[in-house]
Amino acid sequence: DIKGFVFDLDGVITDTSVFHSQAWHQVADKVGAPWSQELEDGLKGISRMDSLEMILKAGNLSDKYTEDEKVDLATEKNTNYLKLVDQMTPANILPGIKKFLDDLKAHNYLISLASASKNAPKVLSKLQLTDYFPQIVDPQSLTKGKPDPEIYLKGAELINLKPEQCIGVEDAAAGVEAINAANETSIGIGDPKILAAADIKFNDTGEMTLDHIKSQMN
Ligand code: G6P
Ligand code: MG
Repeated sequence: DIKGFVFDLDGVITDTSVFHSQAWHQVADKVGAPWSQELEDGLKGISRMDSLEMILKAGNLSDKYTEDEKVDLATEKNTNYLKLVDQMTPANILPGIKKFLDDLKAHNYLISLASASKNAPKVLSKLQLTDYFPQIVDPQSLTKGKPDPEIYLKGAELINLKPEQCIGVEDAAAGVEAINAANETSIGIGDPKILAAADIKFNDTGEMTLDHIKSQMN
């Protein structure tokens, strides 16, 4: 029986995936790496330094920068990202999410957050959703990023559930892969072609209700 939900943040709870993309696109332009829809999709769910590495690789630029210069580029991206986050309000919560979280609480489901973002607590606070997520996986504690299952296993552990008792919710292909590898039930939100591996698929957050989930489970 499902007893808990482990949530991704960016692109699931709120529209920050657009802000991450915008800020990375600036970095790509600066270093002269090509930007594509494929790269944008592939970056979703990927940690800060791994994201930079993917962008540099796309331009065959990986060897052109020292480790220190890479940290500077990633820091610059984060500064630009935080400028966008600073303007966020609860209006940036994606459609249906607040009601879904309220429904989960009303039905006593446990909730945790499995975001790779070090900015997750700040984003939740801007959205005024901090109280819904008492359990947040600390991305600094991870040895591997998505698609490794580690973050979703920790998300289940934080709420004292077995992975089989959890549903993971993702907008990224790497995230769905992580949920599946963790042995949790996966919900993929977004393009069903990109999220083909998800157990349950919704085109957008507004479709994600307990009834719709139950009707897709068996
Ligand atoms: C999430 C986002 C990624 C982002 C990563 C690290 O997984 O989907 O786009 O790169 O978090 O975020 P951070 O805020 O720590 O740079
Ligand atoms: Mg995401």
